[in-house]
Amino acid sequence: MATGSMYRVGVLGHGAIGSVVAEQLAAGTVHGAQLEGVILRRPQTGLEHEQLSWEAALERCDLVVECAGQQALRENAVRILACGVDLLASSMGALADPVFAASVQAAGPGRLISTAGAIGGLDLLGAAARMGGIERVLVTTRKLPATLVQPWMDEQQRSELEQASGPVEVFRGPAALAARHFQKSLNVAAAVALAVGDWDAVQVRLLADPAAELTEHLIAAHGPAGEYSFSVKNYPSPRNPRTSGIVPWALLHSIQQAADARR
Ligand SMILES: NC(=O)c1ccc[n+]([C@@H]2O[C@H](COP(=O)([O-])OP(=O)(O)OC[C@H]3O[C@@H](n4cnc5c(N)ncnc54)[C@H](O)[C@@H]3O)[C@@H](O)[C@H]2O)c1
Repeated sequence: MATGSMYRVGVLGHGAIGSVVAEQLAAGTVHGAQLEGVILRRPQTGLEHEQLSWEAALERCDLVVECAGQQALRENAVRILACGVDLLASSMGALADPVFAASVQAAGPGRLISTAGAIGGLDLLGAAARMGGIERVLVTTRKLPATLVQPWMDEQQRSELEQASGPVEVFRGPAALAARHFQKSLNVAAAVALAVGDWDAVQVRLLADPAAELTEHLIAAHGPAGEYSFSVKNYPSPRNPRTSGIVPWALLHSIQQAADARR
């Protein structure tokens, strides 16, 4: 990667998040970065972006942006980094697995870059953790019930969710477990845990609420540095109601920062 040249970006996955990221990169809205192509599971006809094989992507890209889910991140992170390609991950919940997290940490020379995704305040939480540790964080997430149905749920759990007429607590527990059980919905808890550097300090409460037109995240933290409370309400993506519409824009912001850092 030569300083001063364009930051060449490959986008892994072309769903609700990846399609917006690819489109914006192709339109040139991230200064100093360009779309090299998209990496798909299988070839797609009628797509306006170049489709890259893994071989071509690792040869031609400076950065791969993962917009494809925890499984795709687990399968590809180490080889991306080992090729000297940076990796911007949206599915950070995969890092709740300590074995995977250690393998990613040991991999390089590419750098793993995280994103705030659907939430904010991570810079302040990171600073507070550095100052004296964050004793406890509670992330309360409220989403439409249908977006929380999971493949591992039994019939009764599914119908409780589908027929909920008011808020129902679906999960309460540590962030690592939350990220594993709700892989597409609780990457925000992982982002908080990574920002404070302590998975055990972060607890999650997940509410299914038929009135939750906007997806809500309340983040309440305290420790020796102070007390913090952040409230975020995002409209869901029209393409995937499990994902907030802001997420691709958070990734684009992270790509811009990474591109700027090379200048
Ligand atoms: N950090 C956050 O705040 C946040 C928020 C929402 C979603 N996410 C993460 O982003 C992921 C993607 O979200 P989305 O709404 O775009 O999902 P989506 O289902 O709309 O799109 C995912 C795309 O990835 C593709 N894909 C899956 N596995 C792949 C693989 N191995 N190789 C190539 N392509 C693959 C799918 O075919 C699909 O097109 C979610 O699974 C979640 O883990 C993170």
